[in-house]
Amino acid sequence: GAPITVDISALEEGQRLVHEWRGQPIWIVRRSQQALQILPTLDDQLRDPMSENPEQQPAYVLGSNPELRSIKPEVSVLVGLCTHLGCSPEMKAEIRPEPFDANWKGGYFCPCHKSKFDMSGRVYEGVPAPTNLVVPPHHYVDDNTIVIG
Ligand code: FES
Repeated sequence: GAPITVDISALEEGQRLVHEWRGQPIWIVRRSQQALQILPTLDDQLRDPMSENPEQQPAYVLGSNPELRSIKPEVSVLVGLCTHLGCSPEMKAEIRPEPFDANWKGGYFCPCHKSKFDMSGRVYEGVPAPTNLVVPPHHYVDDNTIVIG
């Protein structure tokens, strides 16, 4: 499939854009500073906190801050398919105490078999999904324009 170009100038904090590339949903989320600060605190609950599986993201999203898995700190780009059996997880970005999960700090929840991912798409321990969500190849052509593919 051809690359797609996405204008993110109207994407506000906490919001997600959904596009399609190669038949897959592509999520672009502008994370809050609070969401970014939570990420390093989750590392010991995650299966691959430093994204050491090279198939799940391009190396250039793992710079000085690998927990973010992004080029710009706040803007997360992910393939919106669960790495278990391919359902589309739900975004539950807000910190939501019970009844969903008393320890939930925001992220993505797959309703099919209850896999959980953080706001960088990193998978939690103890769920069926084996790996972090995929970060697709992408780059910025200017501050508000991303090319996926
Ligand atoms: Fe997501 Fe099974 S497809 S947990």
